[in-house]
Amino acid sequence: MKYAIGAILGVAFFAWAFSLCSPAGKNKTGHEYMPDMYHPVSLEANQYSAYYWNHWDDKSTFTKSQLAQPRGKVNGSIPRGYTAAYYGQDMDYVHGKNAGNAISAPVNGEAPFYYTNTEDDRLRCEQEMVNNPFPITKAGLERAKPLYNVYCGICHGDKGDGQGALVTATDKYPVQPKNLIGDDMIAAGNGRFYFAMMYGKNVMGGYSDKLSFEERWEVMHYIRSLQAKAKNLEYSETANTLSNVEKPAKGEATGASRTAPPPPPPAPQ
Ligand code: HEC
Repeated sequence: MKYAIGAILGVAFFAWAFSLCSPAGKNKTGHEYMPDMYHPVSLEANQYSAYYWNHWDDKSTFTKSQLAQPRGKVNGSIPRGYTAAYYGQDMDYVHGKNAGNAISAPVNGEAPFYYTNTEDDRLRCEQEMVNNPFPITKAGLERAKPLYNVYCGICHGDKGDGQGALVTATDKYPVQPKNLIGDDMIAAGNGRFYFAMMYGKNVMGGYSDKLSFEERWEVMHYIRSLQAKAKNLEYSETANTLSNVEKPAKGEATGASRTAPPPPPPAPQ
């Protein structure tokens, strides 16, 4: 009798112990004899309700569509080793070429962008971001050409005239992409383009995660070169007859001046 009770209790104990090793489910780690790193406790990207305590209120709760977006960096932060070069700085120095013991930090980096995605800030951005911080160089224009063709040209056209393949190949594209070589965009400030690259506009999505700081400004130069081409003007390393704003690396900017747009209305008190 004693043995029987002991045996039953023993079997029951082992059955219970085995049941603890229940299989892992979709969102459950299950019970494992030795949990290892299969189940990270850290944030799972692109997963809904990754951490269920993280739902204090609607504002701090990610929606599914937000989770489907690429994750950007924390606002205002610059990743380690990523700094922005500014106009006037010797680019060889920035790339660590003319200093014997320099370690080149990638300048292909990031810079904070303090404008929010509102109409007021769009206007403010166009007013304030006037200069392209990089000089016009042959290498920069060559680097920007494929970037523009891949990221922008499919809609805005390789010539910038708004006749990209997505528009001309089908009649399904919902909105006419902006003609980037029209007179209004030639007159438009660099900030208007930069803002469009950061946030997009209506059906156009943003490209802040696709293009780095330097690439955005190089694409900007490339778009200006398309505008110059359409007007039979020069926009190159040696001359800029389109505007007097962007400085060629080895020449003068002698084109028309670009008037800043009117200031945005003052923020409500
Ligand atoms: C998927 C198609 C598509 C792609 C790709 C695209 N755009 Fe656009 N873009 C549009 C459309 C459509 C508009 C017009 C939006 C509107 O006014 O409603 C627009 C508008 C713009 C404008 C005008 C914004 C303004 O202030 O009126 C600029 C500048 C611009 N795009 C630049 C770019 C650049 C630079 C790229 C590449 C980094 C790019 N776009 C990629 C579709 C696209």
